[in-house]
Amino acid sequence: MATLSADKANRRYFRQAYRTGRHGWGTEEPSPYAVDFLKRLRPLVSGGRLLDVGCGEGRHAIAAAKMGFEVAAIDYEPLAIRRAKQFARKHRAKGITFLQGNALDLPFPRMSFDVVLDCGCLHHQRKSAWGAYKTNILRVLKPGGFYVLSVFSPRFRLFEGSRRPWHLAHGAYRRYFTREDVLRIFGKDFEAVEMLEETGSGGGFWHALMKRRP
Ligand SMILES: C[S@@+](CC[C@H](N)C(=O)[O-])C[C@H]1O[C@@H](n2cnc3c(N)ncnc32)[C@H](O)[C@@H]1O
Repeated sequence: MATLSADKANRRYFRQAYRTGRHGWGTEEPSPYAVDFLKRLRPLVSGGRLLDVGCGEGRHAIAAAKMGFEVAAIDYEPLAIRRAKQFARKHRAKGITFLQGNALDLPFPRMSFDVVLDCGCLHHQRKSAWGAYKTNILRVLKPGGFYVLSVFSPRFRLFEGSRRPWHLAHGAYRRYFTREDVLRIFGKDFEAVEMLEETGSGGGFWHALMKRRP
């Protein structure tokens, strides 16, 4: 129950964020960390099917489609999906299927993706939802497939001064992950190919490229 009401508060926060357009993450410009990982993956994955989980306004889905991936992108906020479709048209990005839906209940068949990307979705999930989140990723990602993850690190400015590894701001839940947290959650199922910490004024993130163990 606690998770459900927390999720409601998250949804309210994201609805408002997309309505006002005042949110702290990029709108059309993708994260250079994610772009760099995807460029390196493109020649390695045969089918090239990529899922963007919590895609927001689609900046990474669009970047991936431009690189030649066949993309599905999902977010539970309908306004984000509408915007993502508009931006995809504006940027003439082809081959993206945008869907409204929940990362904790992904509507895709088993092993349907070569790459799953999450830039900023996991760190809004309560710890009680991590199991469902991971089960969903593992169900849709092929063995040997890649997982690209960006999450808040404790260096994120909103975290400063907090005694817990999470906090609520504007109703939204935010969790701050150390490198060890990421390895603890995903290490059994994924090999960490590379983990980069983004620091500095706009920073406070871990960017991880992981490969699913066969
Ligand atoms: C910080 S935003 C990042 C958006 C996008 N990935 C980007 O980098 O621009 C997090 C996104 O995750 C979505 N989200 C959060 N929890 C979700 C869930 N359980 N299922 C689907 N989408 C979710 C929110 O609606 C929001 O669009």
